[in-house]
Amino acid sequence: MPSKPRRPRARRRRAAPLFGCGVDVVELSRFRQALARGGEPFMRRIFTAQEAAYARARRPTMLLHLAGRFAAKEAVIKALSQVDPTRAPAMNQVEVRNDRLGRPSIVLHDRPRARRKRVRLHISLSHVDTVAVASAIAIR
Ligand SMILES: CC(C)(COP(=O)(O)OP(=O)(O)OC[C@H]1O[C@@H](n2cnc3c(N)ncnc32)[C@H](O)[C@@H]1OP(=O)(O)O)[C@@H](O)C(=O)NCCC(=O)NCCS
Repeated sequence: MPSKPRRPRARRRRAAPLFGCGVDVVELSRFRQALARGGEPFMRRIFTAQEAAYARARRPTMLLHLAGRFAAKEAVIKALSQVDPTRAPAMNQVEVRNDRLGRPSIVLHDRPRARRKRVRLHISLSHVDTVAVASAIAIR
């Protein structure tokens, strides 16, 4: 008996995963150079006014706080791209805030509030004299 022609299997669209993670390391020496080269326009492209104020208020370690935030933003963008590949916020749309105990969290400013997808983000950052590092988890 002739075999039935095979129907092409419908392509299943792979759903984005529910969890994403991201990590980033920033070398202080390179970050210092980028900041010196880019000046205020670089600051505005990367950081919100609140983040700049947070770092400036801790002037002796200002660079560390900025580098930590830079790493945090990169880590968040990596984590977010795994749970929502259509979403790539600009660096200054990813804001690091600290609560009164110093714990960091992320506020995203990339879409009108009504259209923001529900994604929870968790962040941790650390810095020493020469490097800053951050890791992020995104949960859809
Ligand atoms: C909070 C603590 C873990 C930070 O560690 P550290 O080695 O001093 O600093 P690191 O460079 O590793 O990390 C600094 C970052 O940790 C984050 N951080 C600060 N306090 C934090 C906390 N309580 N929980 C989680 N993250 C915290 C901040 O993002 C900070 O960077 P930022 O100021 O630029 O935003 C440390 O100070 C500690 O163990 N303190 C004792 C416990 C304590 O004081 N808890 C807070 C009151 S309950």
